[in-house]
Amino acid sequence: MSPDDELAPLPTAELHLHIEGTLEPELAVALAARNRVRLRFDGPEELRRAYRFSDLQSFLDLYYELMAVLQRPEDFTDLAEAYLRTAAAQGVRHAEVFVDPQAHLARGVPLEVVFEGLGEAFATAEERHGVSVALIPCFLRERDPAEAEELLPRLLRYRPLVIGIGLVSAETGRPPELFERVFARAADEGLHRVAHAGEEGPAEYVTAALDHLGIERVDHGIRSMEDPSVVARLRAEQVPLTVCPLSNVALRGVDRLADHPLKAMLDAGLAATVNSDDPAYFGGYLHDNVAAVTRALGLTLDERRRLAENSWRASFLPAAERDRHL
Ligand code: HPA
Ligand code: ZN
Repeated sequence: MSPDDELAPLPTAELHLHIEGTLEPELAVALAARNRVRLRFDGPEELRRAYRFSDLQSFLDLYYELMAVLQRPEDFTDLAEAYLRTAAAQGVRHAEVFVDPQAHLARGVPLEVVFEGLGEAFATAEERHGVSVALIPCFLRERDPAEAEELLPRLLRYRPLVIGIGLVSAETGRPPELFERVFARAADEGLHRVAHAGEEGPAEYVTAALDHLGIERVDHGIRSMEDPSVVARLRAEQVPLTVCPLSNVALRGVDRLADHPLKAMLDAGLAATVNSDDPAYFGGYLHDNVAAVTRALGLTLDERRRLAENSWRASFLPAAERDRHL
């Protein structure tokens, strides 16, 4: 087996992927032209040069700005379609995809446009790309929790495509407990619950998200490694963590891939998975992330198999379907 074969993609579930973060510069420019939206960038090359960040907020500013090109259902369909094509080539066989409804509502794009547009691509994804898809709308933590509570019933209409809720955006100063009520309601409705925690925020936000929001997976969670008691709990309860290595380097949470805690997480017995977060912005899709950490951290084929297996165990697929992949 050549080193390249060893690095061939393994069938994997992608569990941490923001659909708006798959907006490649070329598509952003094409959609801007189609919708007559003026961008402050002169073409895809200039835009690509702007995909450089100093922290999470500097990324979020551009990420929200570029959403302006997404106006009509077909824009969301084209965005999802482009992601599915690339993801399939990178070994993704199932994706639980995040979307930010409040970011679209705030700029006057109705929920129907977002969900019908995405739903169009997702309905045939299995048949055309061999990828099954579910959606997890995420609440923006900088906005009023009351707005999330009002939005929840409207999201329920998009079941069974919608399978859960998440919590995203800048963590600092916005502890998970603010969103306790909407997460409790979502649990009563039988929805799954996840939250970004311990990305830039401290390890105690991971504990708070588990205790107050009842989350079933931690998105990112890398700063858990700073607190041995949190690590011990994540290990004992086998709470899955959706780790996104290229994102952590791009947003300067980790200096270099060689310093990334992923291997330490595996060594500590945590249920870590590798995912792509916002691949158009951070330099790579799922297998690009796996290949990069494999090289930087010297992961073995067994460790890569463990990451793929963890992704299936951590997915929200019905048990019979999930077990087909194990
Ligand atoms: N972190 C927090 N919120 C986000 C991200 C992220 O990496 N991407 C899109 N929303
Ligand atoms: Zn994310």
